[in-house]
Amino acid sequence: MQAVVVEEPGRLKIANAPIPVPRRGQILVKVEACAQNPVDVLFITQISRPGSVVGCDFVGSVAQIAADVSPGLRVGQRVAGFIYGGSNIGITQEDGGAFAQYLVADAALVVPIPSSLSVEEAAGIGIAPFTACQVLHQSLQLPLLDLLSPSQPSASTSRQGQWLLVWSGASAVGQYTIQLAAKLGLRVITTASPARHDLLRRLGARTVLDYHDADIVERVRSITGNKLTMALDCSGSPETVAACMGEAGGVVSLILPNKAGPSRKDVAEKMSLVFTLLGKAVQAPVAIPAIPPHHADGEQYAQLLGSLLAQRKLKVVAPRVFPGGLRGVPEGLRYALSGQVHAEKVTFVL
Ligand SMILES: NC(=O)c1ccc[n+]([C@@H]2O[C@H](COP(=O)([O-])OP(=O)(O)OC[C@H]3O[C@@H](n4cnc5c(N)ncnc54)[C@H](OP(=O)(O)O)[C@@H]3O)[C@@H](O)[C@H]2O)c1
Repeated sequence: MQAVVVEEPGRLKIANAPIPVPRRGQILVKVEACAQNPVDVLFITQISRPGSVVGCDFVGSVAQIAADVSPGLRVGQRVAGFIYGGSNIGITQEDGGAFAQYLVADAALVVPIPSSLSVEEAAGIGIAPFTACQVLHQSLQLPLLDLLSPSQPSASTSRQGQWLLVWSGASAVGQYTIQLAAKLGLRVITTASPARHDLLRRLGARTVLDYHDADIVERVRSITGNKLTMALDCSGSPETVAACMGEAGGVVSLILPNKAGPSRKDVAEKMSLVFTLLGKAVQAPVAIPAIPPHHADGEQYAQLLGSLLAQRKLKVVAPRVFPGGLRGVPEGLRYALSGQVHAEKVTFVL
């Protein structure tokens, strides 16, 4: 098969690679489209060794199912998800990336894709929506999984109506977090460039502010009555986000490490890494041991995302398709490196 391989840091080539073989709990997927994430840029330019097949997000059809996989998936079914795209510095030597004609994925972590979604739209049902689930459920301890059975009364209705700040809401993670938080009954306040404000209101944000404004911290504190207790930082601005928190402090969910450390004693920072949902030890971008309960959470997030998509209750991040299939990946990388990704998923259709 053909695959996108790191030739040297920051430089990619198309190469022939063996079709991976599904092992315990895995499926073989014939990739129909794949999408780019900021972590791919990091892997390609700084971390992955030459020869690594890169890429994480994919959509495709199930081509083969390992014998031990529980019933539920069928050959030919369209599924999406993410895999560890750091290739040979990562989880196992055998796992390849998603920028390839075939990949192997954990059967428990794929999202069934309804026929109402195109492959372009479904390609980004990977790292970003799974991260949004992880942020709300694991870091902010919200009853996200109640959305799997909305008729059940929520165990923590007391959190309903509380404010959640999503800093950089136009990011892919931000867009999914806003939608899921609004479904949980939270009041979402978010920040974005003005061109993205209407989009974020349509996704369920109550208040949208411009993060470029000099008085942004005072405005958040004023609108939230100085009572903000929950926030997500999607752009590496932990100090500003902590400053927005109310007088009682609270929890900030981080998806980028805060190298400077917490700036407020009354604000706890909870860092999450989406790859822990894979249930295996991760070496890069940071070393993390296997956390089996995270795999169980990931399985439920896959079910939740599949259910919301089937009910047309989740809007996907708008795809920007780069022409040329896998040959378009280097151009997608240049686009990201030049800071042009705004409220969109860089996508490649094979
Ligand atoms: N820990 C994890 O597991 C994990 C998982 C996923 C992502 N991440 C990280 O989280 C971040 C977001 O990922 P993503 O895929 O959601 O990003 P993305 O979609 O590429 O984010 C693009 C958005 O970032 C916003 N932005 C750019 N510069 C900004 C700044 N200085 N301040 C505020 N917003 C800014 C822009 O908003 P406007 O258009 O409004 O200007 C743009 O629309 C990345 O750094 C990524 O590496 C971590």
